Amino acid sequence: MLVLFLCLFLLLLFLFKFITAYGDFTLMSKKQPKLEKIEDKVVWITGASRGIGEILAKQLASLGAKLIISARDEAELNRVKSQLKGKHAPDKVKILKLDLTSGEDALREAVDLAECFFPESGIDYMIHNAAFERPKTSVLDVTEDGLKATFDVNVIGTITLTRLLTPFMLKRGKGHFVVMSSAAGKTPAPGQAVYSASKFALNGYFHSLRSELCQKGIQVTVVCPGPIETKNNAGSRVPSEKRVSAEKCAELTIIAATHGLKEAWISYQPVLAVMYLVQYMPTIGYWLMDKVGKNRVEAAEQKGSTYSLSLLLGKNKAA
Ligand SMILES: NC(=O)c1ccc[n+]([C@@H]2O[C@H](COP(=O)([O-])OP(=O)(O)OC[C@H]3O[C@@H](n4cnc5c(N)ncnc54)[C@H](OP(=O)(O)O)[C@@H]3O)[C@@H](O)[C@H]2O)c1
Repeated sequence: MLVLFLCLFLLLLFLFKFITAYGDFTLMSKKQPKLEKIEDKVVWITGASRGIGEILAKQLASLGAKLIISARDEAELNRVKSQLKGKHAPDKVKILKLDLTSGEDALREAVDLAECFFPESGIDYMIHNAAFERPKTSVLDVTEDGLKATFDVNVIGTITLTRLLTPFMLKRGKGHFVVMSSAAGKTPAPGQAVYSASKFALNGYFHSLRSELCQKGIQVTVVCPGPIETKNNAGSRVPSEKRVSAEKCAELTIIAATHGLKEAWISYQPVLAVMYLVQYMPTIGYWLMDKVGKNRVEAAEQKGSTYSLSLLLGKNKAA
């Protein structure tokens, strides 16, 4: 009887933990970042002019990192820099204007410059956070221009930058890539097929890179967030959508990186549950997504919630 009661209690505890989780179980088990892995380390962040990248810059600066912040909009980078506080901020924060679509020669110049900013250590962490905008459209409405624009930033630019930076890291025998992928890089994302394809590509590339080079000191943390609330999307998001804050997402990203996690998932339910299903029970996961797919595209068209369980029933299309 006691054993039965204990089992029931543990099951309820597990269910409660799962329902209220905002990250995968491994990530949730790590409570704090390892400060010694961040303080005085050089961190280069792309897409730092707004959104999650801006918050990452703020949190990393306050933990004592030396920062290089990149994006195309220099004025916004200056605004972000002026707001950073920490052992090496704002004065020693370096701004490196960067367009990920500018081609190999320009990206090589950017890498050379970034490596020179802190010559005594070079780059310890490269946070690949920048991404092309991700409007929701049906696969039928994808244009060649949209496809190329997404892949140029999310995949070609990001991989080229990595290819150019890795030899410097290998020479030092250490370096850590942190990649802001997405839940859409783990599960089907109806209405965002091209974005999803670009994130699956990143996952494949960076997990392979780690397998090839981990014995030479190269680490990779692939972060897969579900819906995140940023200042940027706060105005346009559907009120009923439950999103993890950009602050929490950045905090968990830093925890995942400093604990050397290979992959981390950040989301509320039901997205987290779908990620578990697709990963561990793909037959059920894909069946579920096939039920949701058409409704999700229609919900996006009608500005309804695209992350709700009621998509299963075809409800929730209207805002
Ligand atoms: N927000 C979410 O709900 C969510 C969910 C899952 C995953 N993610 C991922 O998390 C990351 C950050 O998302 P976010 O919502 O914070 O993004 P965001 O607000 O759209 O910001 C994108 C950043 O990328 C930069 N960027 C865009 N094109 C660029 C280019 N050609 N070259 C260099 N930089 C460029 C932008 O700066 P400039 O315009 O100044 O260049 C900006 O700083 C992305 O990788 C995204 O896919 C976000």
